[in-house]
Amino acid sequence: MTNIDVFSSAHSFKEEDVRDKTVVIIDVLRASSTMVTALQNGAKGIIAVGDMDDASKISHNLDAKSFLMSGEKDGVTIEGYDLGNSPLEHTEDAVKGKTIILNTTNGTKAIRRCNLADRILVGSFLNLRAIIEYLEDLDEEAILVCAGWRGRLSLEDMLCAGNIIYELCEGQLSAEARDGAKVAFGLYEKFGDDIENSIKSSNYAVRLKDIVSEDDLVYCCQRSITQILPALNEGIISDINGKEQ
Ligand code: MLT
Repeated sequence: MTNIDVFSSAHSFKEEDVRDKTVVIIDVLRASSTMVTALQNGAKGIIAVGDMDDASKISHNLDAKSFLMSGEKDGVTIEGYDLGNSPLEHTEDAVKGKTIILNTTNGTKAIRRCNLADRILVGSFLNLRAIIEYLEDLDEEAILVCAGWRGRLSLEDMLCAGNIIYELCEGQLSAEARDGAKVAFGLYEKFGDDIENSIKSSNYAVRLKDIVSEDDLVYCCQRSITQILPALNEGIISDINGKEQ
């Protein structure tokens, strides 16, 4: 298994810490799941932005018919945007052939904070197997960056990181593993048998219970339903696996 560390939130590291590394951004609820789903449904690519200003600058340089603005602030669709941050809104009808400009509270900001990384991938339960297969073949250190929520740890992101590590080491974590990997692995050992119910009682689910539908939560807890492997290349996130299950 490649050497893996886990960062618990988008604010738990310095930008320098990921320089020249491979990172996997994990925001199970919901930015990562939305990106994976949009690409699965034929979106041309995703531009992850840090804020509304970035989003509007980028949109002014694109042909109006070629893109959609998606995103949320504190879970709520941003006024004037085409879509929110629900993966279930990113249907084939809505996104096929479009570039998605995505602006979210934590997930897209986590991507921006990794701008010194050598390679940025996007991981979720939905594309778990694709991420594991990529990391199995990697012979250098990788960092799983959990987006968390406003600098705090989120159970669902750490669980996903733990699931990746558990599979990579076939349930036998070495004593030399990084502390971050040990914490995520231990969390997965405790809660991995019932991801859906664990996530339904997470801080996120409670915080956004009147805003984010339970259908979104249930959808995002499905494991390995697609081989889509989103990676950032010259500012655009697109699928580098090019195959579907
Ligand atoms: C985020 O980036 O914080 C999330 O994706 C929030 C959300 O679920 O909309």
